[in-house]
This record gives sequence, structure tokens and C-alpha cells, in this order.
Amino acid sequence: MQAIAAPNIALIKYWGKGDSTTNSPASGSISLTLSADTLWAKTQILSRDTANNINGPTMEINDSPVAINDSVLRLLDGFDQCAYWKKTPTPCTSIVHESAEGLPRDISIISHTNIPIGSGIASSAAGAAALTLALDNYYQTNFDKITLSCLARLYSGSGARSLYKGAVEMVYEAAAHPLLQWRAIPISVHPSFYSLECLILLFSCIRKPLPSTEAMNKCANHPSQKLRLSCIPTRLARCRSALQTGCFEELAEVCEEDWKCMHNVVQEATGISYVLEEGRTFSEWVTDQRRTTSLQAFCTYDAGPNCVIFGFPAALNRIRECYPHYQYITCKISW
Ligand code: DP6
Repeated sequence: MQAIAAPNIALIKYWGKGDSTTNSPASGSISLTLSADTLWAKTQILSRDTANNINGPTMEINDSPVAINDSVLRLLDGFDQCAYWKKTPTPCTSIVHESAEGLPRDISIISHTNIPIGSGIASSAAGAAALTLALDNYYQTNFDKITLSCLARLYSGSGARSLYKGAVEMVYEAAAHPLLQWRAIPISVHPSFYSLECLILLFSCIRKPLPSTEAMNKCANHPSQKLRLSCIPTRLARCRSALQTGCFEELAEVCEEDWKCMHNVVQEATGISYVLEEGRTFSEWVTDQRRTTSLQAFCTYDAGPNCVIFGFPAALNRIRECYPHYQYITCKISW
């Protein structure tokens, strides 16, 4: 059975690791999940015959083999651990249960996606969620949504949020086992926001020069990152409240503040700018139009050059009319 998941776009970004063993984030984040009708990752797990002397998992994405990296192994270890807990009444305290009877790993992971990979359109989030759901199907583990979100996080931090539709927050539950502390939960949104849509402006689909995991690690000890992390709780509260009260202007302001802050950290800590000059000029125009002509739209950038614009349909149409030469993908939000 094939599992399908959609990308999610962070409004308040996850940028920074807390603990590498559990791939926990250094802070919370809030995102909107897009509809899988437009952009998707689909993953299937097949049993593999070991007669050809290949042991362990293999993986292919869009028909090309990819190496099994630490993220996949962390996810498989997480499945072993959670499956073990499901069978035993008291969770043990170690991160990974050393058991001879882990779930079978002679598997082929076959994934397809129509999302440009590594260019800041959350391909890894959709891939992580689809892989987690596919493993849950294959192993018939039937984990609950919270557990699945924690497992997806082991593969890719942003992936935890793609387990849910709509607005999603990454939160910390202190009482849980370290593996299950950082989990995604859905958050409520004012009904006036159900007509929000998303327009992705494609500046470039070339793979980013520095993968986000590496970039995050380079940012870890930079003073600007420490300052950013200290601002996140207030931004999360502002974003959550704007989503719940339906205050578009406040939502737009806090989201723009956050992506600019994240990208300043990246630039200062790594010397790299994911956002192109053309992208900065475009998003300044959107901000200016919003403040001066009430254009109901705002931009955000993940770790890549492509601009994600959220707004009401009339505003997104106006943007397309003003910039007809750009290439766009129109997406619904999955409520
Ligand atoms: C910029 O989830 O790709 O998209 O956990 O190291 O796999 P890893 O990172 P990843 O980080 C993406 C961060 C971001 C912002 C976000 O989605 O919150």
C-alpha cells in the first residue's frame, strides 16, 4: 500500500537542533499543511528477498537509488522502540531498545515525489511523513498520530508537522519519554482563514548549496541564533493568536519577521544566502503593497530560493497580474 503526504510550510520556522539523538528541535514552530492534490510524496515499502546478498534497507526516490543515511536508521530504530513499548506495559528509559527482535529491515523503500527536491519547498517534510506512514502500514504498527509525528521527526524535523492538515504546532511535552517529547499537534484557526491559499513562486529549482541540517549545525553557536531562539516563544504566541482570532495583518507581520530573522542568522553564520536578491525585492514589494494598499498576502522562505506566498485569492491573483513573467504553483491549504 502506498502512503501519501503533502508538504507543510513553516510560518514560524524550526531552525536549530536541541538533541541530535532524537533529532529534537531547539524550539517550537508553526506551519500550514498544503493539499496533497498539487504537491505530494508517495512511498511504498516492499519486502526484499535477501538471496542477492543485500541486507538491510534500500531506498530509491523517483527511480534513483539513494544512500541509507542516519535519518532512515534513526527512524527505523524509532519504529523498533515504539513497537516494543506497545507490547510492554512500562516504557524503558533508554532511547533505543537493544532487542534482537527488531522489526524486519530487509525492505525496499520506494518513494516518488513531484516536489522539487532541496529547493525550499518542504520536499523532506512530505517525504518524512510519507515514509513514516508507509512504514506504519508495512509493519502494521497502527501507531497513534502523536507517535507517528514523533517518528517522522526522527527522519526530518519539519516532517512531524505533515502528519496533520491545516495549522500545526510543534510542541514540547516534558512528561513524555525523550523520543516522544517533541510532537506535532493541530491548532485551531479562525474560519475566515479557510479561504487562504498558497502561491509558490519558483525562482530556482536547483538544489540548495548547503542542506538545511548542515546549515542548522553551522548556525548552532552563533550569537544571532541564540538571540533568534530567545524571540521564538513570543512569535509563536503572536502567530497562534493571529491564526485563532483571524487577524491577517498580525499573522503576516510576525511570519515575515520570522523568515527574515532566520535567513539573517543563516547569512551571518554561514555566509550563504538561500534567498536571491530578486526574491528579497519581490517580498519587499508584497510587504509594501500590504501596508499601503491592503494587499492581503505575505511571503515566507524555507531553506531555499523559492518564495511561498500565503494570501486570499484576490490578492494572489493581483500578484500574478503584476508579475506575469514568473513561474508559479498554486496550492490549496488542506483544512
Ligand atoms: C527551513 O526538517 O529539513 O524548512 O530535521 O535536519 O531534516 P532536518 O531539517 P528539515 O528542516 C527544515 C527547516 C525549514 C523550516 C521549517 O520547516 O520549519
